[in-house]
Amino acid sequence: MERLKGKHILLGVTGGIAAYKSAELVRQLRQADTEVRVVLTRAAAQFVTPLTFQALSGYPVPTDLFDPGAESAMGHIELARWADAILIAPATAHTIARLTHGLADDLLATICLASSAPLALAPAMNQQMWFNQATRANIHQLKERGVHLFGPAEGDQACGENGPGRMLEPEQLLQQLVALFTPPFLAGVQVMVTAGPTLEDIDPVRYLGNRSSGKMGYAVAAAAQQAGAEVVLISGVSSQPRPERVKCINVRSAVEMHETVMQRVHQCDIFIAAAAVADYRPQQQSKQKIKKDYSHLKLELVRNPDILADVCALADGPFCVGFAAETERVVEHAQAKRVAKGADMIAANRVGLPGSGFEGDENALEIFWPGGGTTLPLNSKPEIARQLVELIGQHYKQTGK
Ligand code: C5P
Repeated sequence: MERLKGKHILLGVTGGIAAYKSAELVRQLRQADTEVRVVLTRAAAQFVTPLTFQALSGYPVPTDLFDPGAESAMGHIELARWADAILIAPATAHTIARLTHGLADDLLATICLASSAPLALAPAMNQQMWFNQATRANIHQLKERGVHLFGPAEGDQACGENGPGRMLEPEQLLQQLVALFTPPFLAGVQVMVTAGPTLEDIDPVRYLGNRSSGKMGYAVAAAAQQAGAEVVLISGVSSQPRPERVKCINVRSAVEMHETVMQRVHQCDIFIAAAAVADYRPQQQSKQKIKKDYSHLKLELVRNPDILADVCALADGPFCVGFAAETERVVEHAQAKRVAKGADMIAANRVGLPGSGFEGDENALEIFWPGGGTTLPLNSKPEIARQLVELIGQHYKQTGK
């Protein structure tokens, strides 16, 4: 979260049930070393109290434009100037309509009108309200004006319906804010990322798999998108949420992943192989469930194609980055792997340690390229992904591929 360090974030909270999630967002923003000032609308204060946000942000929380106490502490114009970015989360349909028309009928709307800081909205509303022509037109106008839209996500809603209109989760909003402060150093660059495990079917109910969660690959795809790249994510089975504005293609087996990558690889400039691809697959897939009629059962395995090696071997291929998950002699094995596969860069992580690697939320990487290398010390996977993508961007530009 280096990009957010020291930034001044003005968080506007408006009157939707998702307002309770904004309390967690403030906590996470503070953890990322940002300064947060929260402004509530009157309706928001029906859902969550100013005191909650005061305790979390460390600052008084004004709700009223005509509060002499709040104005003498930091007036609305000073708040508007103070902000490096304004995020309204949740942003109700009503607030979106007021902003579209430039109303200044409460403190939050007045600050938005008086500020030149980037404005981002995290809409949260019933799906019919989201689809309503009035909301559609308002969103269209705001986008045209350069207002950033974070979400909304689709799914079950507090009103019992299902569809678009859910506010993004606090972690996702934080990532979107990181993107807002990231220079678009990969603008115009096409990136393809593989992520997650491949599953190799034995019969209709059983498969060979591995413990990859997909978290690292998804974080890399999100970081590349945030740096301005157009990203295609080829994902094995994973429960990770699809990163915003990333095209995601779901596959199951290594052969399927290989086929999908090879079909599209000619359109990409950078290929990042973060998937944990099975080295072997059953030679035969039984059409019926295998019965336990035998005391011993032999499973014949055959080698899977090596996707990364095949992409590296292409004439005029993209800049290739591989991952190496190692349990021992990490540096030695990773360097040998980079050379053997012909990759431009390899990111090695030690697996098998609690908390980091395959299933954990944190990771540490040793990165190698021809003639050099660096270490990215233990950090959250999104932060490690951001640092890795920055390195990839530098080396991609140097090699001029
Ligand atoms: O050979 P190994 O599996 O250790 O190599 C790891 C790297 O190669 C990762 O980047 C992984 O995504 C990629 N890989 C691949 N296809 C395979 C095996 C690994 O793309 N069949």
